[in-house]
Amino acid sequence: MQDLSLFPIVLGVDYIDLAPYIKIITDYSQRQPSIANDKSQQLKHYQRRSSRDAEILDHAKLSGLKSTLVSQANDYYQNLLGFSEELYISDSWLNICQPGGHQPDHYHTNAVVSGTLYVVFADTHPKLEFRNPRLINSPQSPEIRRDPSRTTAYNSGFMSVGNLTNGSVLYWPSYLVHGYNTNSTDLDRISISFNLNIRSSNFLYHSPFTLV
Ligand SMILES: [Fe+2]
Repeated sequence: MQDLSLFPIVLGVDYIDLAPYIKIITDYSQRQPSIANDKSQQLKHYQRRSSRDAEILDHAKLSGLKSTLVSQANDYYQNLLGFSEELYISDSWLNICQPGGHQPDHYHTNAVVSGTLYVVFADTHPKLEFRNPRLINSPQSPEIRRDPSRTTAYNSGFMSVGNLTNGSVLYWPSYLVHGYNTNSTDLDRISISFNLNIRSSNFLYHSPFTLV
């Protein structure tokens, strides 16, 4: 049978050389206060909590990193997803997941695209997993259990992204629920998360895309 894919969800993968930035990121984590994740005390978030705190990507010495991330995100948004608007980074935060920690499922609001820059990510670290938005359990959308040996990209409840390393950057639609399992290594898993939004929209388009 011919395979016809409707409304596929596309993620973007890119890369940044972290060498110029790694010491600045490390210094930031030692200077700024962190808060533990509600559901995982070993997962520390370094994020703005008051006007005195600086977000990591607003650090003057990370301006080159920030502009590269904005450029990559716009490549994803405009060239892969096909939108015309210009994205900007609305907020950013550093995550350090110590051994034993995990990232509970969540999604990002007030954003159209979200990204993660992998600062320290080993092969043995837990991969980021995305929930299938069509199959998230709820009373409104009961899920039929499937034979795990017949899991495909079409019927899986979640998918993880492999082949990422230090410096990899992942971009995805912000509405996707995501998280990762327990860090069972003895090495911190370190990432920078960020959200992107559009400043304004000048046009509205309503034409459907026709599959031929
Ligand atoms: Fe997240």
